[in-house]
Amino acid sequence: MIGDRRILFSGMQATGNLTLGNYLGALKNWVTLSDEYECYYSVVDMHSITIRQDPAELRKRARALLTLYIAAGIDPEKSIIYYQSHVSAHAELAWILNCFTYMGELNRMTQFKDKSAKHADNINAGLFTYPVLMAADILLYQADVVPVGVDQMQHLELTRDLAQRFNALYGDVFTVPEAYIGKVGAKIMSLQDPSKKMSKSDENPNASIYLMDDPDTIRRKCKRAVTDSEAQIRYRDEQPGVKNLIDIYSACTGKTPAETEKEFEGKGYGEFKEAVGEAVVSVLSPLQARVKELEKDKEYIDRVIRNNAERAGATAVKTLRKVQKKVGFPERPR
Ligand code: TYM
Repeated sequence: MIGDRRILFSGMQATGNLTLGNYLGALKNWVTLSDEYECYYSVVDMHSITIRQDPAELRKRARALLTLYIAAGIDPEKSIIYYQSHVSAHAELAWILNCFTYMGELNRMTQFKDKSAKHADNINAGLFTYPVLMAADILLYQADVVPVGVDQMQHLELTRDLAQRFNALYGDVFTVPEAYIGKVGAKIMSLQDPSKKMSKSDENPNASIYLMDDPDTIRRKCKRAVTDSEAQIRYRDEQPGVKNLIDIYSACTGKTPAETEKEFEGKGYGEFKEAVGEAVVSVLSPLQARVKELEKDKEYIDRVIRNNAERAGATAVKTLRKVQKKVGFPERPR
């Protein structure tokens, strides 16, 4: 709590091409919540190196992601937008929390299992302890709420367990955070296989809508989306492809899935898919235009990076010093 405002923390990896899932499941909610909370939005570049990255490409993507946060409508004067690697307290707290995390807990993480299957040649210790770094991100800022998509829930549960474990040993050090999961769009599925989530690392480019896709590509991907032969636009688990498109349409238009069902009652899949494509274009085109505009203002972005890292660091170090004292590290001479 800062004054009477509750604290919000969230982050996104600067890896690969961001998808519509990242936008509808996370970024869109960040913007809505940013008036209500004291917000920290991090570009979690330290997380990105759990998978091998091209250094120049990572730097470029990190900056593009930070720019995207602003383009999406987060005001860097009010909310703190910064690179995780610019605040060393993240790594320092992650080390301490590592010493309070059990191997068994990390072994259960489904993302670790998925990612190690995908990158069998590079199952590094960072990939294994990544959820602990994520816990450090959140706990450093004493966040009350963490808006994420459904796929991050398991990591958030671990964060809560770690906070409670530490508090039980040392007194009230950490705020125990709650997840914020949006009503629609919290799990956008692949357009080609609706049993899998839409993911930036999918090998099939038709499976995901990327935030920087041009309008024709978006329309084409929606048109090709896998559905079924039921020929009815209903929001139900038996029709996962259609359900996913209803989710996308609803999240883009601000309608509820029930309203969307009603709107397309008796209509064909062709017409529906076209409408989904248009709804996505109407959200992404203005966003892309704002990104391009902002990218031109190099000085402005540089200033945001400089000022916000300082603001984030000042808060983070307070929690870090408290934790260091609790675990018994010697005091620093003044
Ligand atoms: P990341 O970078 O994979 O994803 C960023 C956000 O996008 C959400 N998301 C989705 N939502 C709906 N449908 C989808 N198909 C979809 N794909 C991704 C994710 O749930 C996430 O909210 N470990 C995190 C980043 C992180 C973080 C944190 C998040 C690091 N520290 C602290 C919150 C708080 C990650 O890899 O997300």
